[in-house]
Amino acid sequence: MTAAAPLRVPAPARVARPRRYVMCRPEHFEVSYAINPWMDPDAPVDRPRALAQWEILRAVLEEHGHSVETVPGEPGLPDMVFAANSGIVIGGHALSARFAHPERAAEGPAFHRWFAARELRALAPAAETNEGEGDFAFAGQRILAGVGFRCSLSAHAEVEQYFDLPVVSLELVDPRFYHLDTALMVLDDTTIAYYPDAFGPAARDVLSALYPDAILAGEADALSFGLNGVSDGHHVFLDPGATGLIAALRARGFAPVPVDMSELRKGGGGVKCCVLELHHRDTSTGESGS
Ligand code: ARG
Repeated sequence: MTAAAPLRVPAPARVARPRRYVMCRPEHFEVSYAINPWMDPDAPVDRPRALAQWEILRAVLEEHGHSVETVPGEPGLPDMVFAANSGIVIGGHALSARFAHPERAAEGPAFHRWFAARELRALAPAAETNEGEGDFAFAGQRILAGVGFRCSLSAHAEVEQYFDLPVVSLELVDPRFYHLDTALMVLDDTTIAYYPDAFGPAARDVLSALYPDAILAGEADALSFGLNGVSDGHHVFLDPGATGLIAALRARGFAPVPVDMSELRKGGGGVKCCVLELHHRDTSTGESGS
């Protein structure tokens, strides 16, 4: 009797959907203060290199069929390049950020002015401390939200009410992963990847109940900012150093696209931190367009 061939479950066919992204060129990027463990004001930053990496990210996103709009950076606001923190935009409704640290406080009004010049259905500045997509990840029918370092449960309540979507609060416990988007990435409306040890026990239980098929990343992939990636449903733009995660994504039918953002890492950010998505909201939820 011969042994049966191992059963191979084919990975599902993934479909990319064109996205609308917002980025802010790192013209004023530097590390002049430290508000997360990655930042060292004594370590030199190579701004031309940061600009070159950022330009490559923008070009790669556009080459994959996505639109990228840019917000002008402002002198004295070196972290403005991390446009994911500018706010949350879903179905044309925008909530602009209110930053936790005084060093970034002026970014809130700067991004708000940019949003205000756009055609949006609704726009409000957050009343609670809220660093936009840093801590809030739109995942189709719900918003996954980090709590612990930069925002509080009252910010989660505000977001839930503003967008009329359930917010799932997830406690972050490791200061290296101070924003949700450093430890968790939404791949499509039903698939996520995350690093379990960045979360408290209750959050881990919630994540494994909601996403039993999630891709679990290890510490090395998380430390190379692999989870700080951007997915269009098929392509996943992420750090080339996250080799384990890249293999896992491929095995699940995603197409990883490595983009090196190592110079921006000196500010504590990667691919996702540099990109805000203007999310389309599915019509079945009662909204349309973005
Ligand atoms: N230096 C910035 C800060 O600490 C980095 C922000 C990174 N952004 C993000 N979406 N995780 O606020």
